[in-house]
Amino acid sequence: MLRNVSELDVGGKTVFLRVDFNVPLADGTITETHRIDSSLPTIRFLAEKAGRLVIASHLGRPGGSPDPRWSLAPVQRYLERKRSLPVQLAPDCAGPAVRQWLADPEGPRVVLLENLRFDPGEETNDPEFAAALANLADVYVNDAFGAAHRAHASTAGMVEHFREKGAGFLFSQEVEYLSRILSAPEHPVAAILGGAKVSDKIGILKNLIPRVDRIMVGGAMAYTFLSARGVAIGRSLLERDSIAVAREIMEEAERCRVPFLLPVDHVAAGDIGAGDPAVTPDAGIPGDRMGLDIGPKTAALFADKLANVALALWNGPLGLFEREPFQSGTVSVARALSASGATSIIAGGDTVAAVRLAGVAEDMAHLSTGGGAALEFLEGKTLPGVRALEVGDPI
Ligand code: 3PG
Repeated sequence: MLRNVSELDVGGKTVFLRVDFNVPLADGTITETHRIDSSLPTIRFLAEKAGRLVIASHLGRPGGSPDPRWSLAPVQRYLERKRSLPVQLAPDCAGPAVRQWLADPEGPRVVLLENLRFDPGEETNDPEFAAALANLADVYVNDAFGAAHRAHASTAGMVEHFREKGAGFLFSQEVEYLSRILSAPEHPVAAILGGAKVSDKIGILKNLIPRVDRIMVGGAMAYTFLSARGVAIGRSLLERDSIAVAREIMEEAERCRVPFLLPVDHVAAGDIGAGDPAVTPDAGIPGDRMGLDIGPKTAALFADKLANVALALWNGPLGLFEREPFQSGTVSVARALSASGATSIIAGGDTVAAVRLAGVAEDMAHLSTGGGAALEFLEGKTLPGVRALEVGDPI
């Protein structure tokens, strides 16, 4: 069982809040703020209720030593703008300056630690680093669902030092919505899976087949499935090593009587940059062309199969939607999902970007901030960050 931040005794206490502010940057500017915005409710709540707030995150993969390119300074500026309250950026994670600030009753109320991965102890889950972080606070809150699949000092090691610990609003919401797909309390349930690689989706497909009522596959991964069915795929992306497992997955779907829908037409071109995209008449792709989006017949088929669903999970775009000639399949399925009125859970940064592009993000029940973490959760794994937060049933 996970306790929610609203159930914790935080009044007058110093709270350590782990968030996932691993956001994309270009020239020091944050280009996508979804992850930060999604944790603002927890930050606002704790900034109001707790005595002191220590916020901590990783950013990028700096490799265990300070690197100004991966400083959390842009995040600190964004937080100050969003909250219109001072947020003090620390020079490191648990060094003398931070300890001094926290010991001083007049010290800053909201402190943002510098990138956790500037210390080698974060990723190795070093017990000393974990203890140093834990020493900063009385209560531990994790809102970093996106990093819950990592057993690091700030997501796992330090957590055992706390009696008072729980999940932030975002973390709780992620667990609640993703668990709903696995326990499927409402039917029919549809899973739409796309993206480049079958090999990334084997675990999730195997876990979802017995739980959902239909599966729709698009994106480059569809070509390996089509090839396993003996359909010509031209020069489309093929994972030869995954053909056998693709066949197994489709056989398992058949055994479970779960319709496994593959594209019945495509937008194909000579290559990614070629200006000659054209719709194929059927599922086959001529030898000199590659499929880069689902075609209109497939989009209509998927829309029809989504019309009556109660619950839907979508992970992975259905084509190369970043390029205009190949976005219409992904965009029309996003709109069909919105029109269906289903409780829709969108997982993965690209898929969240796709529903935004389609203008239907507001209609989705949940836009997950977890990429790898959401996938592992849906594969049925217990994530280290979730396990660390578990507490026994209250007596
Ligand atoms: C993510 O972006 O998936 C999380 O923040 C984890 O980052 P990592 O893959 O660098 O561990």
